Amino acid sequence: MRFDDEYFDERYAEAEGDPWGYYESEYERRKGERPLAALRDRKAPEEVDRILDLGCGNGAKTRLATEAYPDAEVVGVDCSKEALDAAREWAPDASYERADIVDWVAESERAFDAVVAVGSLYYLCADYSVTDLFEFADDLRGVVADDGLLVAAHNHMPRDDGPVFAQERTVRTVRTILESNFETVERSRYEAEKQAGIDPEEPAEQPYEVWALRPASG
Ligand SMILES: C[S@@+](CC[C@H](N)C(=O)[O-])C[C@H]1O[C@@H](n2cnc3c(N)ncnc32)[C@H](O)[C@@H]1O
Repeated sequence: MRFDDEYFDERYAEAEGDPWGYYESEYERRKGERPLAALRDRKAPEEVDRILDLGCGNGAKTRLATEAYPDAEVVGVDCSKEALDAAREWAPDASYERADIVDWVAESERAFDAVVAVGSLYYLCADYSVTDLFEFADDLRGVVADDGLLVAAHNHMPRDDGPVFAQERTVRTVRTILESNFETVERSRYEAEKQAGIDPEEPAEQPYEVWALRPASG
């Protein structure tokens, strides 16, 4: 299966812009706030001029970023037009660009004080080779300022029998690849907390990890 713009556009369109109940879900709000708390622990608002939200979806976490850092420029990137239409309504204080994360990061010439990625990077493992992903980690290093931070959260199925992107081993692979260019400064795991608004065929509870990574020195 390809997790491309067509797949995501369909999911967002059939659920009027919020297929996973992000706007109402406490589980999702915490999953968005915890990476931002990891960022705030290390970067005060006056140290953050620019934030990039990779795979920003319908703007649920983007809005948390604009609220936590009201003076920062926040840019959301997502491949889904439907998601971005919803994001522009829900989180109007950010700007948005429609692109594949991998292409956008490869082409960007700007550095951000903070890069946020919630529930997005693991999808890349379904469609990109490990070689491509190491290249992506190189490019991603280029969009994080030298004293900047990458914060991320990824949930996974409690067992490795779901789609490849949501398996625990995939989440582990993403972090290993990122560590080719970044150093983990925080890694927290949150066990099975209720998730609202998910597909009835998916487990009702999914653990997730929150990471903070800084550019590796040298
Ligand atoms: C599960 S949603 C998470 C959205 C948002 N970060 C949040 O947590 O509220 C994953 C998002 O990543 C986007 N996405 C997945 N793969 C992508 C890619 N290769 N390029 C751009 N966006 C991608 C999807 O369109 C989708 O909106």
